Amino acid sequence: MARIVGMVTTSHVPMIGKAIGAGLQQEPYWKPFFDGFDGVHDWLDRVKPDVAVVFYNDHGLNFFLDKLPTFAIGAAETYRNADEGWGLPAFSPFRGDPELSWHLIESLVADEFDMTTCQDMLVDHAFAIPMALLWPNASPWPVKTVPISVNTIQHPLPRAARCYALGQSVGRAIEAYPADLKVLIIGTGGLSHQLDGRRAGFINKEFDLMCLEKLVSSPLEIARYSIATLIEEAGSQGVEILMWLAARAALGESVRKVHMNYHIPISNTASGVLVLEPSES
Ligand code: DHB
Ligand code: FE
Repeated sequence: MARIVGMVTTSHVPMIGKAIGAGLQQEPYWKPFFDGFDGVHDWLDRVKPDVAVVFYNDHGLNFFLDKLPTFAIGAAETYRNADEGWGLPAFSPFRGDPELSWHLIESLVADEFDMTTCQDMLVDHAFAIPMALLWPNASPWPVKTVPISVNTIQHPLPRAARCYALGQSVGRAIEAYPADLKVLIIGTGGLSHQLDGRRAGFINKEFDLMCLEKLVSSPLEIARYSIATLIEEAGSQGVEILMWLAARAALGESVRKVHMNYHIPISNTASGVLVLEPSES
């Protein structure tokens, strides 16, 4: 049977892709951020996942405001990255796992999550940069992938509790998958940031640290927040913490913290990375 080996949640700021492309990981500005991934790499070397289910939010590359699904899932053999205008080096294509995708789709729809299914799907920086952070210089990528995109750009957004329930449903579906696979859950976005408007540059360290703590022990306390409160506390793009909630929910109730790093700022964003493993009790 398939087994969830753990979760990695991380920020996905486009500037990180620029820094990787230019080899700036040891520069004083970047070092505290990239050093935060050493613990992730050690853990990944140990658990060696076969496939990653990735909760992320597309920012207008694959979906735009004219057609924007609340929840979408990939069911393709391959996912390509493409130029979003950041001047980032293109990432090599990501392998899909259509069989696992269709199993998840069957299970999610039966569970009343009526997903948009994408047999052709471009993946943006929110998918590609975390992959490059988890597996630097990997060629080919060591895991197959299933992308799950959540709308965070055009209101109304799905409630935090709904994203949590989505994650729980994904977790149940994976545990019921007959293939003998080690599955990693990835969630990308956040932490607190606002890119535009009067509060551009807004960061809320106190709120972020509270979320990092509650995500481990009592994620339902975060899942109770309204979208308006999340935006007030974390900034209009800080609402991407929805992806962390969905990923956390897939793990089940009891988890063990493996690794965490929090660093301000990367560009104008509070960055974080968290690694959790499911635990028995
Ligand atoms: C930026 C873009 C993002 O998608 C994000 O999550 C954080 C920052 C940016 O444009 O700087
Ligand atoms: Fe983003």
